[in-house]
Amino acid sequence: MKKIRVLLLGAAFSADLHMEGYVRNGETAEIVAIADRNTQAAKELAERYQLKDCRICGDFAEALEEVDCDLVDICLPNFLHRDAAVLALGKGRDVVCEKPLAVSCEAAREMVETAGKTGRHIYYAEDWIYAPAIRRAMEIVREGAIGKLLYLRARESHSGSHSPYVKNLDHCGGGVLLHMAIHPIGLAMALNENKWTQIMAATSGGGAENLLHKDMGGEDWAVASMRFENGAAAVVESNFVTYGGMEDYIDLYGTEGCLHIDLTFSSPIRCFSLPGVSYAVEKAETTVGWSRPAVDEKYNIGYVAEITHFLDCCRRGAEADPGMRGIDGLLALEAVEAAYRSAARGTVIYPEDMTRENAL
Ligand SMILES: NC(=O)c1ccc[n+]([C@@H]2O[C@H](COP(=O)([O-])OP(=O)(O)OC[C@H]3O[C@@H](n4cnc5c(N)ncnc54)[C@H](O)[C@@H]3O)[C@@H](O)[C@H]2O)c1
Repeated sequence: MKKIRVLLLGAAFSADLHMEGYVRNGETAEIVAIADRNTQAAKELAERYQLKDCRICGDFAEALEEVDCDLVDICLPNFLHRDAAVLALGKGRDVVCEKPLAVSCEAAREMVETAGKTGRHIYYAEDWIYAPAIRRAMEIVREGAIGKLLYLRARESHSGSHSPYVKNLDHCGGGVLLHMAIHPIGLAMALNENKWTQIMAATSGGGAENLLHKDMGGEDWAVASMRFENGAAAVVESNFVTYGGMEDYIDLYGTEGCLHIDLTFSSPIRCFSLPGVSYAVEKAETTVGWSRPAVDEKYNIGYVAEITHFLDCCRRGAEADPGMRGIDGLLALEAVEAAYRSAARGTVIYPEDMTRENAL
């Protein structure tokens, strides 16, 4: 079988997560080039995964001009997603894009429209949808084991991003609502056909108003409640004030049962260590004393399976599953924008508010 040739844009944190997916699909995919302005980081990523014949490039735009490939994977800072995607789609490539799809709905819409015009696909890397525990939970919900789904409560939180781009609003487009709550929002939308009817949110406001990270332009705490056309409700929360490692918790309540998922601390291992373990879970500040060292974290949080799915879609020229399409990335971003409007005004936002105000 001809391998899908992948150009990876970015060589930092998420590029490493995606790389695990490509390497485990080595019989069907090959990374032909990695582009990062920090070429040393690109070189180290290629070496870490023992890639042979992988070209190292600098700026993403040059790489898109020079590298022949089938699939472009965008693991760049948020503000570059639009430019990279539009350029790649224009060259006839399919695109995998990290969350959030862009820094504004306008930019995300341009990306989705460009995919439509060029006949290519955007695969939106919402890893939660392909996390094995969440997929199993969705199967359980679909078979009716907890009855009709009434309520989702979920959060993603840790103590702050590793990325230098996250503090600057021009680079990242928002705070924890955009960066982290977009995962539970994406899941809530996928479970409820993307049809929200009202959103109400509160955030810490950003900068001096933040709970802890006063040097960060975006908010470091946010909560949003959503209602959906089918009557279901959701409450999502995110913050950068959570020490001890990344928390990804999902609770689902139905008419005949409930279901609880702990994506990050559900390791079968419990370890007590005086010197500490080299690694336990994402963003854990220390592993001294008791910890829960993750078993195959990149698999459990969904990165390996999402890449496997995207490779399969790319090979078949097919759209991704609901929750993982470019349009899902755009609609999740619209929900985030509605939440920001609600928090700024202290009012409930309805879909018609978004349509009306966008038209003005
Ligand atoms: N799904 C997830 O769980 C998850 C986790 C982390 C990050 N992300 C997303 O992944 C994306 C990247 O974040 P990150 O934390 O991996 O990386 P990062 O923000 O730490 O670094 C981005 C990389 O892009 C490179 N870069 C910047 N400008 C460039 C240019 N013009 N050309 C080439 N390279 C350039 C930088 O040198 C850097 O290595 C973001 O959109 C982020 O939201 C998703």
